[in-house]
Amino acid sequence: MSRIISKSPENTEILGEKIADKLRGNEVIALFGGLGMGKTAFTRGLCRGLGVNDGVSSPTFALVNEYSGKYNIYHFDMYRVNTWDDLYSTGFFDFIDNGVLVIEWSENIEGALPDGSIKITITKGQDDNERIFDIEGLEI
Ligand SMILES: Nc1ncnc2c1ncn2[C@@H]1O[C@H](COP(=O)(O)OP(=O)(O)O)[C@@H](O)[C@H]1O
Ligand SMILES: [Mg+2]
Repeated sequence: MSRIISKSPENTEILGEKIADKLRGNEVIALFGGLGMGKTAFTRGLCRGLGVNDGVSSPTFALVNEYSGKYNIYHFDMYRVNTWDDLYSTGFFDFIDNGVLVIEWSENIEGALPDGSIKITITKGQDDNERIFDIEGLEI
């Protein structure tokens, strides 16, 4: 596991870009951490690293946003996904292996994550702008 400390939203986006550079295009990236932890900021940076420069926001109502860059990116928000039926209806299982999946609120679907998923847990640091990223499943 690697631990990275981010000191600002910009720092978090740059971490996302750095991780984007390591992807092969079929990863599942499961983000854990509550509201305001920076899941969307991280995803915005990751998308930028894959050549997607705008329109990255929480897919709260859509449940999944799709972006097309170096790879297809499927950006999920699982906040309101509580059952296997809900999860199937997001297209989650169809998208696996067809692009990069980035998942906000992975807590809600943890049992459905495939083996080999990259797991990133974000917690608050000492001051308001600090976030601690614990990264499992990817060498960085
Ligand atoms: N180090 C940091 N990384 C990311 N966001 C931060 C950081 N410090 C403060 N913030 C603030 O926290 C909020 C994160 O929002 P967002 O990325 O939408 O979080 P989430 O998707 O986890 O709810 C933003 O208001 C941002 O300005
Ligand atoms: Mg979000």
